[in-house]
Amino acid sequence: MQIFLDTANLDEIREIAAWGILAGVTTNPSLLAKEKGADFRATIEEICRLVNGPVSAEVISTDVAGMLDEARRYAAWHPNVVVKIPLIPNGISAVSTLAREGIKTNVTLCFNANQALFTALAGATYVSPFVGRLDDISEDGMALIRDIAQIYRNYPQLKTQVLAASIRHPRHLTDAALAGADVATVPAAVLKQAIKHPLTDAGLEKFLSDWKKRQAEKSATAIPVELPAAVARA
Ligand code: G3P
Repeated sequence: MQIFLDTANLDEIREIAAWGILAGVTTNPSLLAKEKGADFRATIEEICRLVNGPVSAEVISTDVAGMLDEARRYAAWHPNVVVKIPLIPNGISAVSTLAREGIKTNVTLCFNANQALFTALAGATYVSPFVGRLDDISEDGMALIRDIAQIYRNYPQLKTQVLAASIRHPRHLTDAALAGADVATVPAAVLKQAIKHPLTDAGLEKFLSDWKKRQAEKSATAIPVELPAAVARA
């Protein structure tokens, strides 16, 4: 499973990109709104410079002509731009056209398997089922990921990738991988939670303290003799 970062914050992207495991970035209008005063195009172009992978930029239009116009403009900004399109009838229509033009799309705000089926039939590159928002209303968001992954496996001619979104905690990340999602797009804070374990931290601390103790004992019992330089360096 690939990991994308779900943010428009350049500092977060720089920090997590340094881990060497980041395959892409997803943004949306709410994430961009958090970056006060940031220019949309400049932000997307900078993200494309920071991460060598798919970068999602979402349209604002809800009519087909408007979506197509925005999508064609955003796709021209950088080869890695993937155009995010809301999962509404006009969005599916726009995706069908964009697929024929070779413009990559990420269909967002997916909340049931039928929506994901229509998305794949339209030729989208990614579908983004929102796991956390389904959990928020007492539904099983991860069950949707499993259902979509199974439907897509049943029909190999469907090439759309499952991009698990609205990931709220480390267990979502694990379960998305177990469910067979192709990608999970994850907030930086969740990735930082997911990489940590108290036993890892405690184990490392013990290793380092034992090593320091060994070094101290070694220097305390050292017999001051002239050793050949090659041996002393050993
Ligand atoms: O990529 C979609 C994601 O940003 C939505 O997350 O937590 O607002 O449901 P959330």
